[in-house]
Amino acid sequence: MRFVVENTAPHQTACDLLALPVPQPGTLSGAATQVDRAAGGRLADLARAEGFAGKPGTTVMLFTPEAPFRRVLLVGIGAEPTHEQLRRYAATAVRRGREARASRIALATGTDHAGSAEQVRAAVEGAGLGAYRFDRYRSAAEGTAVQEVAVLAAGGGREALDAARALGEAAVRATCLARDLVNEPGNVLTPAAMADVAREAAERGGLRCRVIELEDARSMGMGLFAAVATASEQPAKFIVLEYEPATGGATGGRTVALVGKGVTFDSGGLDIKSQSGMATMKGDMGGAAAVVGAMSALKDYSVPVRVLGIAAATENMISGRAMRPGDILRSLAGKTVEITNTDAEGRLVLADALTYAVRNGATELIDLATLTGSCVIALGDYTAGLMGNDQPLMDRLLAAAALAGEQLWQLPMYEEFLEAMRGEITDLKNSAGRQAGAERAASFLREFTGGTPWAHLDIAGPAFCEERGGPSYFPMGGTGYGVRTLLRHLASPA
Ligand code: BES
Ligand code: MN
Ligand code: ZN
Repeated sequence: MRFVVENTAPHQTACDLLALPVPQPGTLSGAATQVDRAAGGRLADLARAEGFAGKPGTTVMLFTPEAPFRRVLLVGIGAEPTHEQLRRYAATAVRRGREARASRIALATGTDHAGSAEQVRAAVEGAGLGAYRFDRYRSAAEGTAVQEVAVLAAGGGREALDAARALGEAAVRATCLARDLVNEPGNVLTPAAMADVAREAAERGGLRCRVIELEDARSMGMGLFAAVATASEQPAKFIVLEYEPATGGATGGRTVALVGKGVTFDSGGLDIKSQSGMATMKGDMGGAAAVVGAMSALKDYSVPVRVLGIAAATENMISGRAMRPGDILRSLAGKTVEITNTDAEGRLVLADALTYAVRNGATELIDLATLTGSCVIALGDYTAGLMGNDQPLMDRLLAAAALAGEQLWQLPMYEEFLEAMRGEITDLKNSAGRQAGAERAASFLREFTGGTPWAHLDIAGPAFCEERGGPSYFPMGGTGYGVRTLLRHLASPA
């Protein structure tokens, strides 16, 4: 799918489908009245007849073979035409366009055809993310694909609009890479396959890539990562990507580390999961997928700081070598941990990865992990939990997430959550009861940050979509949650 920015007026745009965003309460105005005239006045009639009122997600489609646009689609965007509504509108438009077998779609970006750079970016993101399908395992291609999306915008300079289009396209590419990784099954996306994808991303994105093998990780002292990895037949890979900005010395000495939980399949280990609990556990590497996806686009975003991307990739399996409940392990940081639940493996993997990041120059840590079912219970399927030790960093991430349209909500880090994680005979234990599961897990992680500013995104809910009901650009399966927040944050990290 190709994107172009055009400044033709909507009613004069040649295409198979012309989409117009209509705010609530839904009277046609501005560009839409001209389109209605070109359609012989039937558009307004039809909208009235169908009771179309601009409610988000509702649509009206009219066949207009005599107009330069062969079909027109009205999409409601609600009372407040935010960038997020524009993203959802664009996703709805490409999906309806595909159903109507449209090859070239034109998207108006506002009611008056002004169209700012941010609106163009939102429309490109929504259209690109909405068009995503994971169809590489279908023998026959499903339906036709949209070839070209023309985003209509007359506002701002051409160059600014085109730069916005390019940023939108880079976000789509990076997010869809993360989605693909989550959607690939455990038998295909092994830790080794993940390392291959990271190497390819490094090649294209101008990154350095280093893959630490399990035996080396063990001898370096990563006792927690190694304990999770030991049971598996699939060799674990501790993947490290490194980005340096083109502007050499201008990084101000800052290194942001992105740390992703990369459990390519989580069986639970000896504390085995139930059938339904295990069903979607190929997606337990959603954090690492977001890290690899974001890293792949840092150059496109001209990120001005050094960035380390860590994907700690391993399975959590069962065998005669599996870690046992009661085992005592030593972390890279030297702290001892008693295994009280082998299914609380994500925090083990992340703990060593956080220590590794700090020892390799990180001045700011951001981890993403499908860490706890508890976070899904608290916040649902579309919202990630945010915790950390540095409020300014968390505030910047909340602002980046709001711009990206990714729902993120801060949870508390009270002292008692850490108290619950203290071991009876060790420094820490890896699980404790059912209460405040997300916060207790985060408190465990905080012990491995060495006081470095740190934010933790528990993406167990939004990384993987099992039911319709989220934004129209969320597909079923992997969503690529986190990629766009990370890119917004890193593009202006101060
Ligand atoms: N990968 C799971 C968390 C998860 C649950 C992700 C549902 C996505 C959807 C994680 O490794 C896990 O098993 N967490 C346990 C921790 C508990 C044993 C302390 C959980 O949340 O139940
Ligand atoms: Mn688990
Ligand atoms: Zn897990």
